[in-house]
Amino acid sequence: MGPTPASTASTTTVAENPINASVPSGTFVITGANGGLGSAVVELIVSSSEFSSMHGIYMVREVDAATALNASLNHAKQGHRYDVVGLDLSKLAGVRDVAKKINERVAGGSLPPIRALVLNAAFQCNYLAHWLLTMVLLQSMDREHGRIVVISSAGHDPNDTRHAGMGIFKEERWRTIRDDTTGAAGMRRYSAAKLCLVMMIYELQRRLSSDPVLSSICVLGLDPGAMSKEILRRGNFLMSVFVTRIFLPFAAMVSSKLAPEGFFRITRKSAKHVLRVALDTETLGEHPQAVYLNGTKRWESSAESRDEKKQMMLWQDSVKYTKLKASETVLSSWN
Ligand SMILES: NC(=O)c1ccc[n+]([C@@H]2O[C@H](COP(=O)([O-])OP(=O)(O)OC[C@H]3O[C@@H](n4cnc5c(N)ncnc54)[C@H](OP(=O)(O)O)[C@@H]3O)[C@@H](O)[C@H]2O)c1
Repeated sequence: MGPTPASTASTTTVAENPINASVPSGTFVITGANGGLGSAVVELIVSSSEFSSMHGIYMVREVDAATALNASLNHAKQGHRYDVVGLDLSKLAGVRDVAKKINERVAGGSLPPIRALVLNAAFQCNYLAHWLLTMVLLQSMDREHGRIVVISSAGHDPNDTRHAGMGIFKEERWRTIRDDTTGAAGMRRYSAAKLCLVMMIYELQRRLSSDPVLSSICVLGLDPGAMSKEILRRGNFLMSVFVTRIFLPFAAMVSSKLAPEGFFRITRKSAKHVLRVALDTETLGEHPQAVYLNGTKRWESSAESRDEKKQMMLWQDSVKYTKLKASETVLSSWN
Protein backbone atom coordinates (compact mmCIF):
# COMPACT_ATOMS: atom_id res chain seq x y z
CA MET A 1 0.00 0.00 0.00
CA GLY A 2 1.24 3.46 -0.74
CA PRO A 3 2.40 6.02 1.61
CA THR A 4 2.09 5.97 5.26
CA PRO A 5 -0.98 7.08 7.05
CA ALA A 6 -0.76 9.78 9.64
CA SER A 7 -0.95 9.40 13.38
CA THR A 8 -4.11 7.38 13.89
CA ALA A 9 -3.07 5.37 10.93
CA SER A 10 -4.49 2.25 9.50
CA THR A 11 -4.97 -0.73 11.71
CA THR A 12 -5.73 -4.29 10.81
CA THR A 13 -9.03 -4.33 12.63
CA VAL A 14 -11.92 -5.18 10.36
CA ALA A 15 -15.23 -3.63 11.23
CA GLU A 16 -18.22 -5.90 10.84
CA ASN A 17 -20.44 -4.80 8.02
CA PRO A 18 -23.77 -4.32 9.75
CA ILE A 19 -27.04 -5.39 8.20
CA ASN A 20 -28.38 -2.03 9.27
CA ALA A 21 -27.14 0.03 6.35
CA SER A 22 -27.97 3.33 8.06
CA VAL A 23 -24.94 2.89 10.31
CA PRO A 24 -22.23 3.22 7.70
CA SER A 25 -19.25 0.96 7.95
CA GLY A 26 -16.79 -0.50 5.50
CA THR A 27 -14.15 1.23 3.44
CA PHE A 28 -14.67 4.71 2.00
CA VAL A 29 -12.45 5.35 -1.02
CA ILE A 30 -12.16 8.81 -2.55
CA THR A 31 -9.87 10.07 -5.32
CA GLY A 32 -8.73 13.69 -5.38
CA ALA A 33 -8.75 13.73 -1.57
CA ASN A 34 -6.39 16.70 -1.57
CA GLY A 35 -8.72 18.86 -3.66
CA GLY A 36 -11.23 21.44 -2.47
CA LEU A 37 -14.22 19.10 -2.40
CA GLY A 38 -12.22 15.95 -1.58
CA SER A 39 -10.53 17.43 1.48
CA ALA A 40 -13.89 18.84 2.67
CA VAL A 41 -15.44 15.36 2.41
CA VAL A 42 -12.52 13.86 4.36
CA GLU A 43 -12.85 16.53 7.04
CA LEU A 44 -16.54 15.67 7.50
CA ILE A 45 -15.76 11.96 7.77
CA VAL A 46 -12.84 12.16 10.18
CA SER A 47 -14.40 14.74 12.47
CA SER A 48 -17.71 12.95 13.02
CA SER A 49 -18.24 9.93 15.24
CA GLU A 50 -21.07 8.94 12.86
CA PHE A 51 -18.42 7.56 10.49
CA SER A 52 -16.07 6.15 13.10
CA SER A 53 -16.54 2.57 11.96
CA MET A 54 -15.45 3.40 8.43
CA HIS A 55 -11.94 2.97 7.11
CA GLY A 56 -10.83 5.80 4.80
CA ILE A 57 -8.67 5.29 1.74
CA TYR A 58 -7.77 8.82 0.74
CA MET A 59 -6.15 8.88 -2.69
CA VAL A 60 -3.95 11.79 -3.69
CA ARG A 61 -1.71 12.46 -6.65
CA GLU A 62 1.32 13.15 -4.45
CA VAL A 63 1.41 12.28 -0.78
CA ASP A 64 4.12 14.79 0.11
CA ALA A 65 2.18 17.64 -1.48
CA ALA A 66 -1.17 16.76 0.10
CA THR A 67 -1.39 19.83 2.32
CA ALA A 68 -5.15 20.32 2.11
CA LEU A 69 -5.75 16.68 3.00
CA ASN A 70 -3.33 16.88 5.92
CA ALA A 71 -5.17 19.94 7.22
CA SER A 72 -8.40 17.93 7.12
CA LEU A 73 -6.78 14.97 8.84
CA ASN A 74 -5.83 17.26 11.71
CA HIS A 75 -9.52 17.12 12.62
CA ALA A 76 -9.42 13.31 12.89
CA LYS A 77 -11.03 11.82 15.95
CA GLN A 78 -9.03 9.34 17.94
CA GLY A 79 -9.14 5.92 16.36
CA HIS A 80 -10.28 6.94 12.89
CA ARG A 81 -8.63 4.42 10.58
CA TYR A 82 -7.33 5.52 7.23
CA ASP A 83 -4.60 5.28 4.66
CA VAL A 84 -3.34 8.08 2.48
CA VAL A 85 -2.56 6.44 -0.84
CA GLY A 86 -0.50 8.05 -3.57
CA LEU A 87 -1.98 7.49 -7.02
CA ASP A 88 -1.28 9.53 -10.11
CA LEU A 89 -4.34 8.81 -12.21
CA SER A 90 -2.50 9.70 -15.40
CA LYS A 91 -0.63 6.39 -15.12
CA LEU A 92 -2.86 3.40 -15.76
CA ALA A 93 -0.18 1.00 -14.50
CA GLY A 94 -0.30 2.81 -11.14
CA VAL A 95 -4.11 2.53 -11.09
CA ARG A 96 -3.84 -1.24 -11.59
CA ASP A 97 -1.15 -1.53 -8.94
CA VAL A 98 -3.04 0.41 -6.26
CA ALA A 99 -6.34 -1.36 -7.01
CA LYS A 100 -4.63 -4.74 -6.84
CA LYS A 101 -3.16 -3.96 -3.42
CA ILE A 102 -6.53 -2.86 -2.10
CA ASN A 103 -8.09 -6.04 -3.49
CA GLU A 104 -5.45 -8.12 -1.70
CA ARG A 105 -6.15 -6.37 1.60
CA VAL A 106 -9.91 -6.82 1.30
CA ALA A 107 -9.49 -10.45 0.28
CA GLY A 108 -7.11 -10.99 3.20
CA GLY A 109 -9.55 -9.43 5.68
CA SER A 110 -7.34 -6.52 6.79
CA LEU A 111 -9.62 -3.99 5.08
CA PRO A 112 -13.44 -4.14 5.06
CA PRO A 113 -15.26 -4.27 1.71
CA ILE A 114 -15.69 -0.97 -0.08
CA ARG A 115 -18.92 0.70 0.92
CA ALA A 116 -18.36 3.77 -1.24
CA LEU A 117 -16.00 4.52 -4.11
CA VAL A 118 -16.11 8.24 -4.90
CA LEU A 119 -14.62 9.22 -8.26
CA ASN A 120 -13.83 12.83 -7.48
CA ALA A 121 -10.39 13.74 -8.88
CA ALA A 122 -10.59 15.99 -11.89
CA PHE A 123 -9.04 18.05 -14.58
CA GLN A 124 -5.93 16.18 -15.64
CA CYS A 125 -7.75 12.90 -15.25
CA ASN A 126 -11.47 12.49 -15.20
CA TYR A 127 -12.69 9.44 -16.98
CA LEU A 128 -10.44 6.61 -18.19
CA ALA A 129 -8.39 6.07 -15.02
CA HIS A 130 -11.56 6.21 -12.91
CA TRP A 131 -13.22 3.66 -15.19
CA LEU A 132 -10.26 1.30 -14.84
CA LEU A 133 -10.00 1.83 -11.08
CA THR A 134 -13.68 0.95 -10.74
CA MET A 135 -13.45 -2.15 -12.90
CA VAL A 136 -10.52 -3.57 -10.95
CA LEU A 137 -11.94 -2.64 -7.52
CA LEU A 138 -15.34 -4.22 -8.20
CA GLN A 139 -14.19 -7.43 -6.53
CA SER A 140 -13.68 -5.52 -3.27
CA MET A 141 -17.04 -3.73 -3.27
CA ASP A 142 -19.54 -4.46 -0.55
CA ARG A 143 -21.99 -6.60 -2.53
CA GLU A 144 -25.03 -5.63 -0.50
CA HIS A 145 -24.54 -1.88 0.14
CA GLY A 146 -21.67 -0.81 -2.15
CA ARG A 147 -22.03 2.45 -4.08
CA ILE A 148 -19.95 4.01 -6.83
CA VAL A 149 -20.30 7.78 -6.95
CA VAL A 150 -19.37 9.81 -10.00
CA ILE A 151 -18.71 13.48 -9.28
CA SER A 152 -20.15 15.18 -12.31
CA SER A 153 -20.63 18.76 -13.38
CA ALA A 154 -23.29 20.86 -15.07
CA GLY A 155 -20.59 21.22 -17.73
CA HIS A 156 -21.31 17.70 -18.99
CA ASP A 157 -24.50 19.07 -20.54
CA PRO A 158 -24.04 21.67 -23.32
CA ASN A 159 -27.71 22.57 -23.03
CA ASP A 160 -27.68 23.26 -19.30
CA THR A 161 -28.57 26.92 -19.02
CA ARG A 162 -26.70 27.33 -15.73
CA HIS A 163 -23.36 27.70 -17.50
CA ALA A 164 -24.66 29.50 -20.58
CA GLY A 165 -22.82 32.64 -19.47
CA MET A 166 -19.47 31.01 -20.19
CA GLY A 167 -20.40 30.73 -23.85
CA ILE A 168 -18.33 27.60 -24.48
CA PHE A 169 -21.20 25.76 -26.13
CA LYS A 170 -22.69 28.76 -27.90
CA GLU A 171 -22.13 27.34 -31.36
CA GLU A 172 -24.19 24.32 -32.33
CA ARG A 173 -21.11 22.37 -33.52
CA TRP A 174 -19.71 22.15 -29.97
CA ARG A 175 -22.80 20.48 -28.59
CA THR A 176 -21.68 16.94 -29.30
CA ILE A 177 -18.29 15.33 -28.62
CA ARG A 178 -15.79 16.14 -31.39
CA ASP A 179 -12.15 17.03 -32.01
CA ASP A 180 -11.52 20.41 -30.53
CA THR A 181 -8.40 22.53 -30.65
CA THR A 182 -9.86 26.00 -30.53
CA GLY A 183 -9.88 28.67 -27.79
CA ALA A 184 -12.16 27.16 -25.15
CA ALA A 185 -11.00 23.61 -25.94
CA GLY A 186 -9.77 22.96 -22.37
CA MET A 187 -13.16 23.62 -20.81
CA ARG A 188 -14.92 21.65 -23.52
CA ARG A 189 -12.57 18.68 -23.07
CA TYR A 190 -13.25 18.80 -19.34
CA SER A 191 -16.98 18.81 -20.14
CA ALA A 192 -16.57 15.90 -22.57
CA ALA A 193 -14.69 13.89 -19.93
CA LYS A 194 -17.46 14.58 -17.43
CA LEU A 195 -19.99 13.48 -20.06
CA CYS A 196 -18.09 10.18 -20.36
CA LEU A 197 -18.30 9.73 -16.58
CA VAL A 198 -22.05 10.37 -16.63
CA MET A 199 -22.46 7.85 -19.47
CA MET A 200 -20.59 5.34 -17.32
CA ILE A 201 -23.27 5.62 -14.63
CA TYR A 202 -25.90 4.10 -16.92
CA GLU A 203 -23.79 1.55 -18.78
CA LEU A 204 -22.04 0.25 -15.65
CA GLN A 205 -25.34 0.10 -13.73
CA ARG A 206 -26.95 -1.95 -16.50
CA ARG A 207 -24.05 -4.40 -16.47
CA LEU A 208 -24.00 -4.61 -12.67
CA SER A 209 -27.76 -5.05 -12.40
CA SER A 210 -27.65 -8.06 -14.71
CA ASP A 211 -24.62 -9.58 -12.99
CA PRO A 212 -25.38 -12.70 -10.94
CA VAL A 213 -23.19 -11.50 -8.04
CA LEU A 214 -22.92 -7.72 -8.25
CA SER A 215 -26.53 -6.74 -8.91
CA SER A 216 -27.07 -4.81 -5.66
CA ILE A 217 -24.17 -2.41 -6.22
CA CYS A 218 -25.40 1.07 -7.12
CA VAL A 219 -23.85 3.68 -9.41
CA LEU A 220 -24.87 7.29 -8.82
CA GLY A 221 -23.90 10.71 -10.12
CA LEU A 222 -23.68 14.01 -8.28
CA ASP A 223 -23.38 17.52 -9.66
CA PRO A 224 -21.83 19.40 -6.70
CA GLY A 225 -22.56 22.86 -8.14
CA ALA A 226 -20.01 25.64 -8.66
CA MET A 227 -17.86 25.77 -5.55
CA SER A 228 -15.43 28.35 -4.39
CA LYS A 229 -12.61 25.84 -4.37
CA GLU A 230 -10.61 25.09 -6.54
CA ILE A 231 -11.09 23.65 -9.92
CA LEU A 232 -10.33 26.88 -11.68
CA ARG A 233 -7.06 27.54 -9.89
CA ARG A 234 -4.98 26.35 -12.83
CA GLY A 235 -6.66 28.71 -15.27
CA ASN A 236 -5.42 32.11 -16.42
CA PHE A 237 -5.11 35.07 -14.04
CA LEU A 238 -8.75 36.07 -14.42
CA MET A 239 -9.92 32.53 -13.69
CA SER A 240 -7.49 31.65 -10.93
CA VAL A 241 -7.52 34.87 -8.97
CA PHE A 242 -10.66 36.82 -9.73
CA VAL A 243 -13.08 33.97 -10.39
CA THR A 244 -11.78 31.42 -7.88
CA ARG A 245 -10.66 33.57 -5.00
CA ILE A 246 -13.07 36.50 -5.21
CA PHE A 247 -16.13 35.93 -7.37
CA LEU A 248 -16.98 32.29 -6.54
CA PRO A 249 -16.63 32.54 -2.73
CA PHE A 250 -18.73 35.72 -2.78
CA ALA A 251 -21.32 34.22 -5.13
CA ALA A 252 -21.47 31.03 -3.04
CA MET A 253 -21.99 33.00 0.16
CA VAL A 254 -24.76 35.21 -1.26
CA SER A 255 -26.38 32.42 -3.26
CA SER A 256 -26.40 29.99 -0.34
CA LYS A 257 -28.48 32.52 1.59
CA LEU A 258 -30.87 33.26 -1.26
CA ALA A 259 -31.07 29.81 -2.89
CA PRO A 260 -29.45 27.06 -0.83
CA GLU A 261 -29.42 24.65 -3.77
CA GLY A 262 -28.58 27.24 -6.42
CA PHE A 263 -25.74 26.97 -8.91
CA PHE A 264 -23.10 28.44 -6.57
CA ARG A 265 -22.48 26.43 -3.41
CA ILE A 266 -20.30 26.41 -0.37
CA THR A 267 -17.82 23.53 -0.64
CA ARG A 268 -18.70 22.11 2.77
CA LYS A 269 -22.31 21.85 1.73
CA SER A 270 -21.39 20.00 -1.46
CA ALA A 271 -19.19 17.69 0.65
CA LYS A 272 -22.29 16.82 2.72
CA HIS A 273 -24.09 16.02 -0.53
CA VAL A 274 -21.26 13.65 -1.49
CA LEU A 275 -21.65 11.77 1.80
CA ARG A 276 -25.40 11.58 1.35
CA VAL A 277 -25.09 10.11 -2.14
CA ALA A 278 -22.40 7.69 -0.97
CA LEU A 279 -23.98 6.47 2.26
CA ASP A 280 -27.52 7.60 2.95
CA THR A 281 -30.21 4.94 2.90
CA GLU A 282 -32.96 6.78 4.74
CA THR A 283 -33.83 9.31 2.03
CA LEU A 284 -32.31 7.60 -1.01
CA GLY A 285 -33.38 4.06 -0.17
CA GLU A 286 -31.18 0.98 0.13
CA HIS A 287 -30.44 0.61 -3.55
CA PRO A 288 -30.65 3.83 -5.55
CA GLN A 289 -29.47 2.57 -8.93
CA ALA A 290 -28.41 4.90 -11.76
CA VAL A 291 -29.65 7.91 -9.81
CA TYR A 292 -28.32 11.32 -10.86
CA LEU A 293 -28.55 14.24 -8.45
CA ASN A 294 -27.87 17.94 -8.50
CA GLY A 295 -27.12 18.58 -4.84
CA THR A 296 -30.01 16.79 -3.15
CA LYS A 297 -32.42 17.03 -6.10
CA ARG A 298 -32.96 14.21 -8.54
CA TRP A 299 -31.92 15.59 -11.91
CA GLU A 300 -32.02 14.57 -15.54
CA SER A 301 -28.54 14.28 -17.00
CA SER A 302 -27.92 15.45 -20.56
CA ALA A 303 -29.68 13.83 -23.51
CA GLU A 304 -26.35 12.67 -24.96
CA SER A 305 -25.37 11.02 -21.68
CA ARG A 306 -28.51 8.87 -21.90
CA ASP A 307 -27.83 7.69 -25.45
CA GLU A 308 -27.40 3.93 -25.02
CA LYS A 309 -25.62 3.50 -28.34
CA LYS A 310 -22.97 6.02 -27.36
CA GLN A 311 -22.68 4.53 -23.87
CA MET A 312 -21.89 1.18 -25.46
CA MET A 313 -19.34 2.71 -27.87
CA LEU A 314 -17.64 4.46 -24.96
CA TRP A 315 -17.54 1.22 -22.97
CA GLN A 316 -15.92 -0.65 -25.83
CA ASP A 317 -13.33 2.09 -26.30
CA SER A 318 -12.61 2.08 -22.55
CA VAL A 319 -11.89 -1.66 -22.69
CA LYS A 320 -9.67 -1.06 -25.71
CA TYR A 321 -7.68 1.93 -24.41
CA THR A 322 -7.11 0.48 -20.93
CA LYS A 323 -6.37 -2.97 -22.38
CA LEU A 324 -8.56 -4.47 -19.67
CA LYS A 325 -8.33 -8.23 -19.35
CA ALA A 326 -10.96 -10.66 -18.08
CA SER A 327 -8.68 -11.60 -15.17
CA GLU A 328 -8.69 -7.99 -13.89
CA THR A 329 -12.39 -7.63 -13.16
CA VAL A 330 -15.15 -9.71 -11.60
CA LEU A 331 -17.85 -8.11 -13.77
CA SER A 332 -19.28 -10.90 -15.88
CA SER A 333 -20.16 -8.73 -18.90
CA TRP A 334 -16.97 -6.69 -18.88
CA ASN A 335 -16.39 -6.43 -22.64
N1 LIG B 1 -15.17 23.43 -8.23
C1 LIG B 1 -16.28 23.50 -8.92
O1 LIG B 1 -16.87 24.57 -9.06
C2 LIG B 1 -16.91 22.26 -9.52
C3 LIG B 1 -18.09 22.37 -10.26
C4 LIG B 1 -18.66 21.22 -10.81
C5 LIG B 1 -18.06 19.99 -10.61
N2 LIG B 1 -16.89 19.93 -9.90
C6 LIG B 1 -16.27 18.60 -9.71
O2 LIG B 1 -16.04 18.38 -8.33
C7 LIG B 1 -14.88 17.56 -8.15
C8 LIG B 1 -13.92 18.21 -7.19
O3 LIG B 1 -13.53 19.48 -7.69
P1 LIG B 1 -12.64 20.46 -6.84
O4 LIG B 1 -13.25 21.80 -6.97
O5 LIG B 1 -12.43 19.89 -5.49
O6 LIG B 1 -11.29 20.44 -7.69
P2 LIG B 1 -9.76 20.50 -7.21
O7 LIG B 1 -9.65 21.26 -5.96
O8 LIG B 1 -8.95 20.93 -8.39
O9 LIG B 1 -9.46 18.98 -6.88
C9 LIG B 1 -9.23 18.05 -7.88
C10 LIG B 1 -8.31 17.00 -7.31
O10 LIG B 1 -8.00 16.09 -8.38
C11 LIG B 1 -6.66 15.72 -8.24
N3 LIG B 1 -6.06 15.30 -9.49
C12 LIG B 1 -5.95 15.97 -10.65
N4 LIG B 1 -5.22 15.26 -11.54
C13 LIG B 1 -4.85 14.11 -10.89
C14 LIG B 1 -4.07 13.00 -11.25
N5 LIG B 1 -3.48 12.89 -12.44
N6 LIG B 1 -3.89 12.01 -10.34
C15 LIG B 1 -4.46 12.09 -9.12
N7 LIG B 1 -5.20 13.12 -8.70
C16 LIG B 1 -5.39 14.13 -9.59
C17 LIG B 1 -5.96 16.98 -7.75
O11 LIG B 1 -4.75 16.59 -7.14
P3 LIG B 1 -3.68 17.68 -6.57
O12 LIG B 1 -4.23 18.09 -5.25
O13 LIG B 1 -2.41 16.91 -6.48
O14 LIG B 1 -3.65 18.77 -7.58
C18 LIG B 1 -6.99 17.57 -6.81
O15 LIG B 1 -6.76 17.14 -5.50
C19 LIG B 1 -14.30 17.37 -9.54
O16 LIG B 1 -14.70 16.13 -10.07
C20 LIG B 1 -14.91 18.50 -10.34
O17 LIG B 1 -14.97 18.20 -11.73
C21 LIG B 1 -16.32 21.01 -9.35
